[in-house]
Amino acid sequence: MKESEISEITYSPSGAMIRATGVSAADLAWLSTRLVAARNEVLDDLALWHSDGAVPKEKIPLDAGFIDLPERLLDEHAKRGENSELGRIQAAAGRLAGQVDRVVVLGIGGSYMGARALFEACCRPYHNELDRIGRGMHPRMYFEGNNVDNDAVTGLLRLLGQHGHERWGLVVISKSGGTLETAVAFRIFLEALRESCGDDVEKCNSLILPVTGQKSRLRSLSTALGCPEMFSIPEGVGGRFSIFTAVGLLPAALLGLDITKLLEGAAVTNRRFCNSPPGENPVLDYVGVCHLMEQRRGANTRVLSAWGKGLEAVGLWYDQLLAESLGKDGQGALPLTVVNTRDLHSRGQQHQDGRRDKLITNLIVETPKSEPLAIKPSTLNQDRLNELAGKTLPDILKAAIAGTNRAYADDHRPTADIRLPKVDESSLGQLFQMLMLATAVEGRLLGINPYGQPGVEAYKSNMNDILRAQ
Ligand code: PA5
Repeated sequence: MKESEISEITYSPSGAMIRATGVSAADLAWLSTRLVAARNEVLDDLALWHSDGAVPKEKIPLDAGFIDLPERLLDEHAKRGENSELGRIQAAAGRLAGQVDRVVVLGIGGSYMGARALFEACCRPYHNELDRIGRGMHPRMYFEGNNVDNDAVTGLLRLLGQHGHERWGLVVISKSGGTLETAVAFRIFLEALRESCGDDVEKCNSLILPVTGQKSRLRSLSTALGCPEMFSIPEGVGGRFSIFTAVGLLPAALLGLDITKLLEGAAVTNRRFCNSPPGENPVLDYVGVCHLMEQRRGANTRVLSAWGKGLEAVGLWYDQLLAESLGKDGQGALPLTVVNTRDLHSRGQQHQDGRRDKLITNLIVETPKSEPLAIKPSTLNQDRLNELAGKTLPDILKAAIAGTNRAYADDHRPTADIRLPKVDESSLGQLFQMLMLATAVEGRLLGINPYGQPGVEAYKSNMNDILRAQ
């Protein structure tokens, strides 16, 4: 697809430009030099990552490899076709999707949330309930290893067992290969898979697709098992920045998503990020508004208000990205995803009337995938809906968005809008890359290393100590 044919996502901070409680154009102009410097630092990080130069201590870990990954993968695909990483992912996904009706994806954190976001946003609603034709011949997908929940694991094993005549497959994802949740789940599901395959070890191994780092225990285990295929998570791409590696792309390809369009979308964001000045640059503008709102107005809760059920997991992916990247050294805004209009009936009161510590960023989809459903006139008009006859669900949603934004503005509560032309691979590719770049830029602006998550290690090591001492 040519870049000119891609509909671009937009970011508009107009609702945040509220006197006294918001930001002004002058504030943003004042910050622009620092924003450009932070962008340059992020791009210098990338250059350093590509070079053989020594990485200064304060920059370790330096996981800048995600930045130009989309372009590198697309270039390699254009040159090497089926022998490229994308070609291999597509071939393996096609093979497994042809063999099984259900796939269990094991992984946690950055090794889970991107795949889930793509699944929920891009697949038809109720994908797993549909028959094979309804699913476009793609498998059902379940996510495990993302918790330690006996009942959930037992429930999934039972479900898979109930359909014993059907084959199912496993995608196991862990960069370190040492994450206990994923490792334990793999051992349990591997045993179940072996049982379901009887004595056919070769068959069983062909139903497992590991995605892991270069020197991981999972790699050694998968090699020892004899898994014929394996995918790598490249060094220099951190877990929560890895959606455009096999971590996100393999599950996406299994679901029949167009992974090339996803990467092309991300490349569009990269081009705008590198070339456009503040004011025309969604990444820098988003960072500028969020940063100023936090520093000057105490808006340290960032609400991502997703106007569509399919976007909830996209919001949760972003929650993790922001929290793990910038929640360091006593800093970092609190991310919170809401889905509206659902959560207007739960959190709405607080957002409208509670503490003034929030910036609300709406995630709005311009066009739904399906035909608009309209309210029809009825002889039973006790509900008084005849006066709305002809209005569609998208009309009602638009009114809800405009009405909510107006209510916030009337009370001097700032909002901003990210608009996606559609929920498709191209828009999502742009959005994921926009939010990853924004996180890296904001880290550099704050003097925080956005990569690594030292704070998560404490629980892991305590859990291991406690388990092994028992
Ligand atoms: O962003 C990160 O690096 C983390 O959230 C990891 O993805 C998460 O801890 C899982 O790690 P691993 O892929 O090594 O199992």
